[in-house]
Amino acid sequence: MNIFILTGAGVSAESGLGVFRGPGAALWKRHDPMQLATPEAFARDPALVHEFYNARRRNLLAASPNAAHVALARLEAGLAQRGGALTLVTQNIDDLHERAGSASVIHMHGELLKARCASCGAARDCREDLSTNSHCDCAGALRPHVVWFGETPLYMDEIYAALELADLFVAVGTSGAVYPAAGFVREARAKGLRCCELNLEPSENADEFDDRRYGPASEIVPSWVEEILRS
Ligand code: OAD
Repeated sequence: MNIFILTGAGVSAESGLGVFRGPGAALWKRHDPMQLATPEAFARDPALVHEFYNARRRNLLAASPNAAHVALARLEAGLAQRGGALTLVTQNIDDLHERAGSASVIHMHGELLKARCASCGAARDCREDLSTNSHCDCAGALRPHVVWFGETPLYMDEIYAALELADLFVAVGTSGAVYPAAGFVREARAKGLRCCELNLEPSENADEFDDRRYGPASEIVPSWVEEILRS
């Protein structure tokens, strides 16, 4: 069986990384994304944008994967043993899937632990704070290696190619509010795939899923993975 999984902020919520939308202290309720997560915001006030991502990077370095990340890593290994495959695409810029043991993770919105030169485009590892004094070897300014509103997500050809080969589409911990990721379920349905949603509450496109399970990711993801590996 080939499974395509799309994860979002909900999978890392119980690791303390926060979500963007929904009840409680969601990030985009406390901060205006147009002031922090667009190329225009970075051009206008790079120090403010760096401050926001520096705080998130420090938070990430202090966080650990939870049982949902661990279960998805176990699913990858379990499917491979059975001659199947998992494509794990995440909108998350954290590295918690990798730290839980997932060998192959497609970060369509970039990675917080990388910086990219705004001039030559080269990406490098980054575990330290960035500032307006952070520069590439070519002297270009460094920016977080994340996809901002108005920018094109990464690896889209690879992602659509993987959807073609999948037997099952699963969305975990994502609100279904941000495209193109929110449109993957429709693509999957058009190809005749079964679609499953695992989330705390119904997402914006919950009606498009055949199978829906609601609860904290640390509980519903491990039990769903056990079911799949038993079947
Ligand atoms: P959102 O914050 O929009 O949605 C998080 C989803 O996770 C919601 O549907 C919550 O109900 C659910 N959730 C919360 N806690 C959970 C838990 N413990 N277990 C399971 N589910 C839980 O996050 P995304 O859909 O990932 O992009 O957001 C998509 C994109 O919007 C992000 O990648 C980011 C943001 O703006 C950029 O910054 C470009």
